Amino acid sequence: MADNYSRKMIRVPSYALLREQDQGKMPVLDVRNLGIDFGGLTAVDGFNITIGPTEISGLIGPNGAGKTTIFNLLTSVYQPTRGSILLKGIDTKGMTTAKVNRLGIARTFQNIRLFNDMSALDNVKVGMHNSIKCSFLASLLRLPQYYKAEKAANEKAMELLDFMGLADVAHVKAGSLPYGVQRRLEIVRALATDPAIILLDEPAAGMNPSETTELMHQIRRIRDTFHIAIFLIEHDMNLVMNVCEAIAVVNYGKIIAKGTPEEIKENPAVIEAYLGRKDG
Ligand SMILES: Nc1ncnc2c1ncn2[C@@H]1O[C@H](COP(=O)(O)OP(=O)(O)O)[C@@H](O)[C@H]1O
Ligand SMILES: [Mg+2]
Repeated sequence: MADNYSRKMIRVPSYALLREQDQGKMPVLDVRNLGIDFGGLTAVDGFNITIGPTEISGLIGPNGAGKTTIFNLLTSVYQPTRGSILLKGIDTKGMTTAKVNRLGIARTFQNIRLFNDMSALDNVKVGMHNSIKCSFLASLLRLPQYYKAEKAANEKAMELLDFMGLADVAHVKAGSLPYGVQRRLEIVRALATDPAIILLDEPAAGMNPSETTELMHQIRRIRDTFHIAIFLIEHDMNLVMNVCEAIAVVNYGKIIAKGTPEEIKENPAVIEAYLGRKDG
């Protein structure tokens, strides 16, 4: 695969890692001291991350470490107890999930959430509701602009399906697609909202090794084609170490290490977190 792909990272003054290409550009995501408590349980605490506009970043850690909760905070599913989230420099405090999506963050889910009885194509178009330029009245009255918007939506959805190798299943019901294909369809749906960053929650879960390898290439191709950032949670270390330029490791809701794949691989605290925890 011919991707013009440089993994060279530089240190910026805040001591975050940024891709060389992202130097001098505003981070797409700048998270400071983020935390959330559920009753007496502190699920996330003191979480900091800076993600450059075209960076592929990873979030790893044992089960129950708080990874999905961090994604829920970033997408306004939960409001933080502490800290702030700047998305493209804008504080998302108090925003709804729909609003932060319009602002530029999209995601996939650890437990796939597709409309099983709808076609793959319609699932993608649902994701596009944000960007379709057509008033409610125009669609209700089926005005010409409705058909124009509908045609444009169809074309865009088909292009994205094709991009992820799913054009031939466009009219198949999502629920009857194999698991690995559903995961890719969720990525297409996220891309359809024109995000500046996509969050992938365990995108390779349930995939076989060849699907995982294919996904790895697709993740890079998404970044290199759309010039967006990708932040992914994944247990498949081969995938994480191969595609991520920077990695944050969480355990018990806190960051225990941050760095390049090479740094993370050798970090004693990371090795301890993975090997030392009995409940896996
Ligand atoms: N809505 C919630 N209410 C109470 N506890 C929650 C809620 N969401 C997550 N948690 C708890 O937060 C912790 C982190 O969970 P999670 O973020 O799903 O971990 P991970 O994705 O790293 O496996 C767990 O102890 C989980 O039970
Ligand atoms: Mg999770």
